[in-house]
Amino acid sequence: MNRLLSIEELNAELLIELINSAEKLKAERSNPSSLPLQGQTWAMIFTKSSTRTRVSFEVGVRELGGSIMFLSSNDIQLGRGEPIKDTARVLGRMVHGCIIRTFAQQDVIDFSEFGNIPTINALTDEEHPCQILADLLTIKEILGTWENKKVVFIGDGDNNMSRSWIWAAKHLGFQLVIAAPKSCFPPQEFMAKVNAPNVSLTDDPISACKDAHIINTDVWLSMGQEGQADKEALFNAYQVNSELLNHAHHDHIVLHCLPAYRDKEITEEILEKHASTIFQQAENRLHAQKAVLAKIAK
Ligand code: CP
Ligand code: NVA
Repeated sequence: MNRLLSIEELNAELLIELINSAEKLKAERSNPSSLPLQGQTWAMIFTKSSTRTRVSFEVGVRELGGSIMFLSSNDIQLGRGEPIKDTARVLGRMVHGCIIRTFAQQDVIDFSEFGNIPTINALTDEEHPCQILADLLTIKEILGTWENKKVVFIGDGDNNMSRSWIWAAKHLGFQLVIAAPKSCFPPQEFMAKVNAPNVSLTDDPISACKDAHIINTDVWLSMGQEGQADKEALFNAYQVNSELLNHAHHDHIVLHCLPAYRDKEITEEILEKHASTIFQQAENRLHAQKAVLAKIAK
């Protein structure tokens, strides 16, 4: 493994190895047993905003012994139209690895191929693999396992988080229900490609949440979709609130990748009630990404 571009590209064995490694790195954070990035310099290229991803990678690379530079697309020639493949061919000769947050999945694929260095997808329109690793780690810590659990993703069924969850369910076999307005279902071709009988789609949030162990939501409008009021209006019945959670399993947890828009996709009450889980999930970005870095660094 020399890159993490998607959950799609992983398999059950690799997912479990990364989660186990993240647990170990978390436990030994104050007394690390090795520094796999010692002597290395990594770059981050972000064309979208970030708090968690940026900070967790900056801290993570340093904690593994490396150094890191943040490159906003506004500051480098990429922002003036230099192709991603040329940016990759330059950085590939100078840095040891690159972490990219951008719009098109093809851009992270191109970077990885033209740069020929370890490359990590820090969120595209299609996938958010680092977040899913942190989410799975959080589930394992709190519930012990995802096996035989019912997971619900409620919100935009056709965004980076829902797609990455769908691939995770495909690999790991847990039951996943995507609850979304019909026009925000993942496309049929995508579902056919995944071909996972354990993943179902519904536009009924109540039936989706029935007896669910893990209720997971995300913003209704992803980065790049700001101002799409027509789309946002579709989601009013899909808010994670106390009424909806009455239908969940009595021992459920609530996940949110953050940032959260209170009283839109989740109420203030529910976010605060589940804050210890949700901020543990945010912290786990650091540990999960250190596991990825340690695995793919050359
Ligand atoms: N969840 C997540 O990726 O957060 P940021 O956008 O703040 O990085
Ligand atoms: N779906 C969201 C995730 C944010 C971490 C977005 O792309 O904006």
